[in-house]
Amino acid sequence: MSLTEITSHKSQIANFLNSLADDNEEIFPYLANRNWKKGKQIFYSGPYWDNEEIIAAINTLISGKWLSAGENINKFEINFSKKFEFKRSVMVNSGSSANLVMIAALKKYFGWKNSDEIIVCACGFPTTVNPIIQNGLKPVFVDIDFEDLNWDLNSLLAKITKKTVAVISSPVLGNPYDMDKFLSIVKEHKLEYIADNCDSLGSKWKDEFLTKEAVASSCSFYPAHHICTIEGGMVSSNNEEIISIARSFAWWGRDCYCVGVQNKLKNGTCGKRFDKWLDGYSKVVDHKYVFGVQGYNLKTPDLLGSIGLVQLEKYDEIHRIRRENKELIGKIFERIPGTRIINEKEYAETSWFGIPIVCSEIDSKFNKKSVVKYLEDNGVQTRNYFAGNLLMHPAYKDLDDPINYPNALKVLDKVFFVGCSPVISKEMINHIDFLVTKFLKEN
Ligand SMILES: Cc1ncc(COP(=O)(O)O)c(C=O)c1O
Repeated sequence: MSLTEITSHKSQIANFLNSLADDNEEIFPYLANRNWKKGKQIFYSGPYWDNEEIIAAINTLISGKWLSAGENINKFEINFSKKFEFKRSVMVNSGSSANLVMIAALKKYFGWKNSDEIIVCACGFPTTVNPIIQNGLKPVFVDIDFEDLNWDLNSLLAKITKKTVAVISSPVLGNPYDMDKFLSIVKEHKLEYIADNCDSLGSKWKDEFLTKEAVASSCSFYPAHHICTIEGGMVSSNNEEIISIARSFAWWGRDCYCVGVQNKLKNGTCGKRFDKWLDGYSKVVDHKYVFGVQGYNLKTPDLLGSIGLVQLEKYDEIHRIRRENKELIGKIFERIPGTRIINEKEYAETSWFGIPIVCSEIDSKFNKKSVVKYLEDNGVQTRNYFAGNLLMHPAYKDLDDPINYPNALKVLDKVFFVGCSPVISKEMINHIDFLVTKFLKEN
């Protein structure tokens, strides 16, 4: 297909989308909060998309030849790496899959043994922890500091043993803790710093991305996150070999690392696609069918790459609006007696995933239950800070007693979050202000 044909498709698709929008205001469900008016629910987040993402996706669908992960995924991996300062990245079908292949790749690369220990926060998202266990390693939990809800660095220090090989960090709703102190602990004890960056894409400490010193990092493109490709995730690193291993785990375990147009090269990127690849077998084998690790299939359709490329262009705007909304909405909630909003530290530039709100005691009339009920009854979506103390959940009961993490125990009772995504407009923020004022008057 020629370039003119593709361009003409694009304008035809745009015209079609616009005519649909004229006929039916609900036709683009991908835009959470679209055509919002008082009385409708305010989604806490959602894809910050317009016609561009749909046009890119349809165009890939109608002009693609293979349709699974190919040239658009490859370009997205390259542009994502440039934007967030990594040498290489591999896209997978979710942030959870990114964590899974990241830990698998690191275990292989460093030769970690089963039951080697990785330190992780007791509070947070389950699939930060699960891949540690799924890869035969041992998660060692750390309590939180109730001031900023991030892991307590002194408790982290106390949990380091001879078997500790790494720490996996996941800043609460994107908000960094004291990275200087953290990095000095990691360096002194020669631990690998792994970043679950799913909630903190683009967050900085002293003007550098949080992931700068990480051996590898993961990211999610689920609709609640900064960039959305429907579902999707990325593993990134400055160590190209780690990404090759991660790609192998995500692509059935195969040894061949050709991506995009490289797949069409007769002799592959390595130049010796047909060679004696198998030890103990003297004949020539196609490298595409040589399996170096016991892998999965966590690839994505190519159209998710084309959506990602458009989203990446919007990242700076998304970052700016998330920060603006956090300030405006945070101030509204601060007016509720006994309520505390978590703010960024002096050296941080947080790319907020959501606004962490800490409520007063259960016996106060402004406790979490009453505030959340009022907001939800009035159409403002709220969310738990994920699992709270993970060890309270059936899946983790055998690992440790939740009582050993007393600060994490308080999270379900006192902490929740509201959104600050760009799908929340200034008009919606004014409405939230109105609702909170009414709540305060009525109580
Ligand atoms: C910190 C963290 N890690 C991992 C994930 C999993 O990402 P996904 O939903 O894309 O699997 C999430 C999801 O929101 C998350 O918040």
